[in-house]
Order: sequence, then C-alpha cells, then structure tokens
Amino acid sequence: MLSLAVLSLAGVALASIERNFAYDSPSFRAPRLALRRDLIKRNHKRWEYYDGQLDFPYNVASGDPLWDSVILWTHPVPSTPDPRPVCLEYQVSNSNDTWSDLVTSDQVWTTSDVDYSYKVEAKGLTPKSTYFYRFVNCADKSNASPVGRFKTTPTEDDEDVDKVSFGVFSCSNYPFGFFNAYGNVARRDTIDYAVHVGDYIYEYQGDGCTSEHACYGDGRDIHAWQLVWDDHEVADNTWKAGSADSNDTIAGTYSNVSFTERKAHAVKAYFEWLPIRTVETDDALRIWRSFKFGTLADLILLDTRQYNRDLTDLYYNTDDVKAIQDEEARSLMGGRQENWFYSELKNASTRGSQWKVVGQQIVFANLATDNVDSWDGYKANRRRVLDTISENKIDNVIIISGDSHANWVSDIAYDNKTDYNPATGDGAYAVEFAGTAVSSPSSFGYNSTLNGPYPPAYYLAAAQKLVNTTGNEELQWTEGATRGYFELHLTRSEATATYYGIADVRTRHSDEEVLATFVVEDKANKLSRPVAGGKVAGGALAQRT
Ligand SMILES: *[C@@H]1O[C@H](CO)[C@@H](O)[C@H](O)[C@H]1NC(C)=O
Ligand SMILES: *[C@@H]1O[C@H](CO)[C@@H](O)[C@H](O)[C@H]1NC(C)=O
Ligand SMILES: *[C@@H]1O[C@H](CO)[C@@H](O)[C@H](O)[C@H]1NC(C)=O
Ligand SMILES: *[C@@H]1O[C@H](CO)[C@@H](O)[C@H](O)[C@H]1NC(C)=O
Ligand SMILES: *[C@@H]1O[C@H](CO)[C@@H](O)[C@H](O)[C@H]1NC(C)=O
Ligand SMILES: *[C@@H]1O[C@H](CO)[C@@H](O)[C@H](O)[C@H]1NC(C)=O
Ligand SMILES: *[C@@H]1O[C@H](CO)[C@@H](O)[C@H](O)[C@H]1NC(C)=O
Repeated sequence: MLSLAVLSLAGVALASIERNFAYDSPSFRAPRLALRRDLIKRNHKRWEYYDGQLDFPYNVASGDPLWDSVILWTHPVPSTPDPRPVCLEYQVSNSNDTWSDLVTSDQVWTTSDVDYSYKVEAKGLTPKSTYFYRFVNCADKSNASPVGRFKTTPTEDDEDVDKVSFGVFSCSNYPFGFFNAYGNVARRDTIDYAVHVGDYIYEYQGDGCTSEHACYGDGRDIHAWQLVWDDHEVADNTWKAGSADSNDTIAGTYSNVSFTERKAHAVKAYFEWLPIRTVETDDALRIWRSFKFGTLADLILLDTRQYNRDLTDLYYNTDDVKAIQDEEARSLMGGRQENWFYSELKNASTRGSQWKVVGQQIVFANLATDNVDSWDGYKANRRRVLDTISENKIDNVIIISGDSHANWVSDIAYDNKTDYNPATGDGAYAVEFAGTAVSSPSSFGYNSTLNGPYPPAYYLAAAQKLVNTTGNEELQWTEGATRGYFELHLTRSEATATYYGIADVRTRHSDEEVLATFVVEDKANKLSRPVAGGKVAGGALAQRT
C-alpha cells in the first residue's frame, strides 16, 4: 500500500510545466508574450492532472534537429472537457516496435492556458540517427499519440557525410486544398529533412476550418522540420510596420487590433504550434538561423518578411515602391540580419562546408514580372548578396524560395548581366530553385468561378511567354499549372533538384508527376547544360542561344 502511494505521488510531483516551451515567449525581450508559470501553478494548486482519455487530433511534429537534440511537439485534447492540467510522457525510441527500452523520456504538463500545446526538447541523442517518438498519457500509458520520426544532423566537423537531402515546401493554404504534398514525400521516404520556407499557415478561414493553426496538422510527422515564416503567418504582404490590410492606424480585415498587436499574437501562436526553437533569446522575434550538416552543407534560413523589412507593395502603393526599388538603403532583412547572413556565407566557405543552401521566402532572380514584393523590389540588397559571393569567391550557393505559387529555376547573375551568358550559364554566381505552393492557387491565374485551375494549355502558354520575355534571361524553366514541392539532394559531386507536380489538390490523393530534374555540379555555380537534361514534363524550358 505504502509503496504504491509513494509511487503515484512521485509521478504527480515529478511532472512539471518547466520543460514545456509553449509557456515561453519567443523572445526574452518580449516577456509580455510569455505566460507566468508561477501563476499557472497557483491556478492549478491541487497539483493533480487529468486522468481521463486524451485525443491527438493535431498529430505530432518534430523540428530544428541538431546532432544531439530535437524539438518534439504535440497538442493533446481531453476527451471530456476538464479544467485540470494534462500530463504527457514523451518517449524517444530507436525503433517503432519497442517502447520499453527508451533513448529518452520525461513527463511534462500542459494546460488550457496554452490551449494544451506541448513542446519539449529531447536531448542526449546520437548524430546522424533515425529515431521514433510518441506521447503517452501519464494516467494511462496505453493511450498514445501517433508515432513520428526524425533524424538528427551530423556533427559540424563530420567529413564523412556524403549525402543529405531536403523536401522543400511553401504556401500551404488549407481553404484552397489538401496538403497531398506532405503525404507523398513521406510515402516515398527519400528525404532526410523537410524545409518550409513560409506561408505554413494562412490567416484566412474557410472550408470547415475556423481555428487556423489547428487545421494544419496533417501528414507532417515523418521528418524533422526546419521552418521559417513568410507573410501569411501574420498577414498578407507584411513588412516591418504593416501589411496589405493593416498597420498601426488601420486594424485590418482579419483582426480588430493594430498591426503590432496582431503580429505579437501571430508570433506567439506560431511558437506554440510549431516545433521551432527560440533562436536568440535577447533579440526580438528573431527566427533567422542556420544548421550545419558536417562539411557537406550549411542551411542558412532567412526572414525576409517579418524581422526588419522595408516598405513593400501593399497594392495601393505599387507605383511608389517601384519608384524606390533601386534605393541603396532598402533592405529585406535589416542591417543586423544582413550582416549575419554575409558572415554566415563567408564562415561556411572558410570552414570548408561544400554547399551553402539559403532558405528564404521570396523569389530572388531578376525577372521582368513587375513584382516588387520579391527581391526585384530590393535591388541593392540583392546586389550586396552577389557582392558577398563574388568578392569572397564563395562557391556552391543554392537559393531555395517559396511565396510565389509557381515554379522558377534560374541562374543568378548581376542585374545588368554584363558577364552572364544565358546559353551556357557562364558568369552566374549561384542558382535559385523556387518552388510552387503546396496548395495556394497558381500566381499565373486561377478560375475562381470554378474554384479550380484553368486548363493546362493556359499555364503552358503563360510559362512560354515568361521564359521568352526580355529581361528574364536568367530564368531557365518556369511552370504554373501544378501545386507541389521539390526535393534537393546534395552529394560531394552535385546538387540535384527534382520538381514534383500535383494537378489537383481539391481532393486527398497521392497522384503526382516528376516535372523536371536539374543538376548543379560542384563549383559550377550555374545550372548544368542542357538544362533539365533538355527535357521536362511540364512548364516551359527556355531555349537560349
Ligand atoms: C509505426 O508503427 C505503426 C504500427 O505499425 C504504423 O502504423 C506507423 O506508420 C509507424 N510509424 C512510423 C513513423 O514509422
Ligand atoms: C494604413 O493602411 C491603410 C489601408 O489599409 C492606408 O490607407 C494608410 O495609408 C496606412 N497608413 C499608414 C501610416 O501607412
Ligand atoms: C471585429 O469587431 C466587430 C465589431 O465588434 C465584430 O463584428 C467582428 O466579428 C470582429 N472581427 C474579428 C476578426 O474579430
Ligand atoms: C563568423 O566567424 C567569425 C570568426 O570566427 C565570428 O566572429 C562570427 O561570429 C561568425 N559569424 C557567424 C554569423 O557565426
Ligand atoms: C554590372 O554590375 C556589376 C556589379 O555591380 C558592376 O561591377 C559592373 O560595373 C556593372 N556593369 C555595367 C556595364 O554597368
Ligand atoms: C472557368 O470556370 C467556369 C465554370 O466551370 C467555366 O464556365 C469557364 O469557362 C472557365 N474559364 C476558363 C477561362 O477556363
Ligand atoms: C518561345 O520561344 C520558343 C523558342 O525560341 C518558341 O518555340 C516558342 O513558340 C516561344 N513561345 C512564345 C509564347 O512566344
């Protein structure tokens, strides 16, 4: 009797909310975004947790893998509403079959104060290893979440790493369709990590989904995520002081508060719902960060949206922004992030890291599309990036982008293209792989009467026109008919990007096709010729002479 009582008390006392990051502010400089654990504990002073069944409607997720740790996330819901805290034990195992011999585990609480978000760091892991994880109800260990999987990174100095791969996603807009892309990558099982370059959620409501983050949990449990936000995690076309429909004098369509308030709430929700680490705790809302994969690659993730971006196109000011797009002082990132980015690029090169993958939101290439919400609206910032690459002779920079709801593959040269040869690619300094949306409608056009895409011929004609347009010489392939994603595989000899197209996302299905495959050879800093092997299954390949 006695030992039983002691045991069960121990279980209650050991579990705590200290390790649940959902209570923290994304930044120590914004303590008003954190919840005070001491007050929460006082509110739950009976110190007992819910002992009924738990559901896991939002699945599980992992993110920000390092060589020895990872962030694990879930969001349990009591089957019967109950005011008491919920206690979950997270479990990490080497195998999906055994949950008795655990690599690491702990019991941690969550409460309704954070809407039951549960976010912990699992430590003590081994580099380059695949793990399985799940969450079990402390009150009934047979009541378990779905099982997720992740891989730790190699250590920074690991010279034996000879391949690493990423799935690259952007623009997952639930009201416009299903996230078939996530499931397809999981089933094929050929990537190590999943990168989302933003618009992981949208602020819009629709189609049976009224609470935004809650609608975005499907099919994302098979890989660790490396996420950075774009505009819609807060609002459409954000910049540092507003968005298309809001600022600190106008509240905006989807909220009744000023932009600053709205942004703070959106950032708090993002940190509660996504498996991302707090990056640098003394800096307001910083999300830009990097990952190292031995000496094979660095992944440098930027925030060209929320952190410190100068004025963008807000639809009512397009001509004003066009008038200043050449201004030297304009920045997409702010001085501090720009300096960090250039320092990261140089350091990656100095330490002998082969590939420098730059994950960021908006299309980087110089295009004649008149879109000043992309890098074309910040030309001096783009030139500073190219200056850093050329002056420091940095090889193997690959830019991966999202935001645009279409596919764009380009050599990257200076805007004046003085030394660039579009036929051979000579004179390029880097390559950009920009991917289409997981489900947002094509930026080439969308039939809103039908609430679906136009016929394929419409998109093919639009793509052909784009690759033939004067000013688009860097652009080697574009495609706007399909939704999808791409995989980026890096080896010691080459980088390969394979684009997958999904014709329709209005139903759940697994159909997809390989649209095109591109190769960048080590130290070539341009797309290999013939581009895409001279053959694509969709979109328009440029014919450059
Ligand atoms: C773990 O095993 C279960 C039961 O066989 C299976 O349904 C699930 O897909 C597996 N999960 C992973 C991540 O392999
Ligand atoms: C705020 O936004 C509204 C439109 O949403 C715009 O008319 C107004 O000029 C903006 N104010 C400032 C100070 O930018
Ligand atoms: C904003 O306030 C109005 C008036 O109180 C209300 O009708 C509307 O639902 C609110 N909108 C949001 C997004 O909360
Ligand atoms: C780059 O390396 C220098 C010298 O070691 C260091 O001072 C700097 O902080 C590094 N930059 C970044 C972004 O890590
Ligand atoms: C083209 O741009 C580069 C980089 O800014 C510059 O060095 C070069 O002088 C420019 N060429 C012309 C013809 O303007
Ligand atoms: C858009 O969809 C409507 C309804 O199906 C159809 O009548 C119309 O022809 C479509 N428009 C185009 C340009 O395909
Ligand atoms: C684009 O150029 C190619 C070859 O140069 C040509 O075959 C194609 O018809 C052109 N497309 C358009 C829309 O001008």
